[in-house]
Amino acid sequence: MTFANVEEAIRQIEKAMAFSDKFVLTSPDKRCVLQHYLTMKGLSSPASRIFMNILCSKSGTRYLEVGTHTGSSLVAACHKNPLGRAVAIDDWSMDKNSKPKLLENLQFFDREFIRQPELIEAEAFSMDKSKLGEFDVYFYDGCHSADSTEKGLICFWNNLAPVSIVVIDDYSIVRVQQGIIRAIDKLGCKQHLRYAWTLPGGKGFEHLYWGGLAVMVFDK
Ligand SMILES: C[S@@+](CC[C@H](N)C(=O)[O-])C[C@H]1O[C@@H](n2cnc3c(N)ncnc32)[C@H](O)[C@@H]1O
Repeated sequence: MTFANVEEAIRQIEKAMAFSDKFVLTSPDKRCVLQHYLTMKGLSSPASRIFMNILCSKSGTRYLEVGTHTGSSLVAACHKNPLGRAVAIDDWSMDKNSKPKLLENLQFFDREFIRQPELIEAEAFSMDKSKLGEFDVYFYDGCHSADSTEKGLICFWNNLAPVSIVVIDDYSIVRVQQGIIRAIDKLGCKQHLRYAWTLPGGKGFEHLYWGGLAVMVFDK
């Protein structure tokens, strides 16, 4: 069990925010980028990568990601972290060419991984999840329609550890907000949602937390 209780999960989020906020608040000319994973091409910002990296830094963290594309968020979560597991799911529906690029990126960062990520090529909502296991940190970055966001939470609910952190990208999009609210309604899990943060981003503000992140702690 990575997070023994809600307070431990909150501490991890606060630690991650402290690092990534510092990056956001530093003027661009004073930023010192020491890690190559912060500059690789991808659909996330350096601040959101730092956030994911620190969020997953607790030893044994089991990380699940839906929507990997060329791997900028996956590499960030795995980079030098002593993860228990890292599982990434994508069906390449957005761009078939992102798969070879992802494999190239994973090979490039291979020596920076303590735990190699497991790739699952599948449609996330319909795939069999009964043997997937439990995860402490779940990042949903698949399709950002309200329906898909809703399914992104509902379909993986049983794969969340008793205390888990769920991060959803593109929170600045109203459809994403609607999807999250609908999922929580349908799951009837409002009482299990213990804390929630939103990190800013979206059109014109991608340099902050890309599309904006919703960060939630669930205690089942
Ligand atoms: C916005 S991109 C992910 C960006 C990535 N997290 C990053 O940081 O670079 C969305 C990805 O989700 C995948 N995707 C969309 N719907 C999916 C589904 N139902 N099942 C599996 N993958 C899906 C797409 O193929 C695409 O690669």
